[in-house]
Amino acid sequence: MLIDTHTHYDEERFDPDRREIIQKAHDEGVSHMVNVSNCMESTLISVRLSDEYDFIHAAIGLHPYFADEMNDANFSILKDLANHRKVVAIGEIGLDYHYMPHPKKVQQACFARQMELALELGFPVMIHDREAHQDVFDMMVRYRVKEVGGVLHSYSGSVEMARRYLDLGFYLSIAGPVTYLNARRILDVVRFAPSDRLLVETDCPDLSPEPFRGTRNDSTRLRLIVARIAEIKGLGFDAVSAATTANAKRLLRIP
Ligand code: NI
Repeated sequence: MLIDTHTHYDEERFDPDRREIIQKAHDEGVSHMVNVSNCMESTLISVRLSDEYDFIHAAIGLHPYFADEMNDANFSILKDLANHRKVVAIGEIGLDYHYMPHPKKVQQACFARQMELALELGFPVMIHDREAHQDVFDMMVRYRVKEVGGVLHSYSGSVEMARRYLDLGFYLSIAGPVTYLNARRILDVVRFAPSDRLLVETDCPDLSPEPFRGTRNDSTRLRLIVARIAEIKGLGFDAVSAATTANAKRLLRIP
């Protein structure tokens, strides 16, 4: 049994075969999937998917790419949707200084407001951090999200930064890049992090693990990531699977 804690089945790339691929993954042992939102439209679709499938939960929020969608009207829509019984987290939220889709100030304002929402409602946060390591960390401390906890999605930082997030009580989520042939830093992170603080995700349709790198990803490939973590940590597949599943259930309060 595995939990894919970060999927984007709302994306158009799944239009041709969404139902088939979701069902196939579930049949192959992915007991739960969390569909994570990035804009207002995907937030609505994530909640709808969670209505359609027992085993899909939703995270709602605005990704830094869509930080310009944050305004009072959308904020209150997000707040209302958070009452939905299948919403388990606020995400994905954070900062992206790699693509810099909006000025830093706009991204930071959107991030701040959603951390306040998470705190007010008691939801864990799912964090996107692309080349904004220090600012993301500093804002998370300033907005006290330690109180609600959360996860660094597709963690790509250093061991030193991982140590600081673990000290804050956060989880690190491991995605396809851990399988890449040129992976280095993430291997050290996986060795360093205790099994009871790791989650696994595909981030599908992106970040396909090897040997599928560059093709459309889906949750049937989650086991490749788990297998690689098991190899790196010198543990069995079942041990990593059991630990990451228990961690996801604990953080996201999935029964
Ligand atoms: Ni994502």
